[in-house]
Amino acid sequence: MVLAAVPGVNALVQAASRGIGFEILRQLLSRDRDRRFVATCRDPRKATALQALAAENDGRVLIVPLELADEGSIRAAADRTAEYLDELQLLINVGGFLHRPGQEPERRLDDVNADSLHASFAVNAVGPLLVVKHFRRFLPRRGRAVVASLSARVGSIGDNRLGGWYAYRASKAAQNMFTRCLSVELARRHRGVICVALHPGTVDTDLSRPFQARVPSEKLFSTERAARQLLDVIVSLKPEDNGAFFAWDGQPVPW
Ligand SMILES: NC(=O)c1ccc[n+]([C@@H]2O[C@H](COP(=O)([O-])OP(=O)(O)OC[C@H]3O[C@@H](n4cnc5c(N)ncnc54)[C@H](OP(=O)(O)O)[C@@H]3O)[C@@H](O)[C@H]2O)c1
Repeated sequence: MVLAAVPGVNALVQAASRGIGFEILRQLLSRDRDRRFVATCRDPRKATALQALAAENDGRVLIVPLELADEGSIRAAADRTAEYLDELQLLINVGGFLHRPGQEPERRLDDVNADSLHASFAVNAVGPLLVVKHFRRFLPRRGRAVVASLSARVGSIGDNRLGGWYAYRASKAAQNMFTRCLSVELARRHRGVICVALHPGTVDTDLSRPFQARVPSEKLFSTERAARQLLDVIVSLKPEDNGAFFAWDGQPVPW
């Protein structure tokens, strides 16, 4: 394990309150006892599982509030992080939504509305980009650093044969473009950076729960399995993977 072999590799898990992000943080904590972690969530008071995990790992997890739709909150989270650590070798953007109260994925054009499109873009695309904008100061100038953003295969333009889900698909496609832009720009000042988009597979979380009925059980991953697979992909990334889009099994996904 490349990451586990590097002492003092610190990580940011953006959106660790539940789902895949919580499990990524839990597994990172158990992989290497030397590391320090920054875990963000929208409301630390409500993130009771995250609070318990941090308490079990006393002093190794800083919980910071971060709302993806609010750049001021992202900036404040970066400032708070600076009081806790100097460098991050791993930044994982996890937060995103497919549905929320009052917003379901669109089945057809008539379901599309501007407010929903704006909300999806703000959280799924703009927010993760702003996280990198404000946290790039923690990336090392030299040496390996991974910036990974959880995307979705449905954000692939080339792979879209079913249509629908306009806001989610397009916001993830925009997130992918931001990842690609970042891979070019960050590499100029951070020589060892590897910037990727990752598809976690279909994972049993609140996000996918309303849409799991037709998913065969072998294709519905537990959060434990999904996090392990994603961390394995991250660990095996090579410098030439900068700017790529990979699925949970390490296979490239068409843009
Ligand atoms: N599950 C799947 O099958 C699947 C498939 C493909 C891609 N993905 C992607 O994987 C990522 C994680 O999904 P998941 O399945 O773990 O979802 P989840 O269980 O619903 O968790 C979503 C996470 O995003 C956070 N979040 C939502 N809106 C936010 C906002 N406005 N600001 C900050 N944080 C926000 C949530 O925080 P709160 O607890 O505060 O709400 C929560 O931590 C997402 O980007 C998703 O698009 C998931």
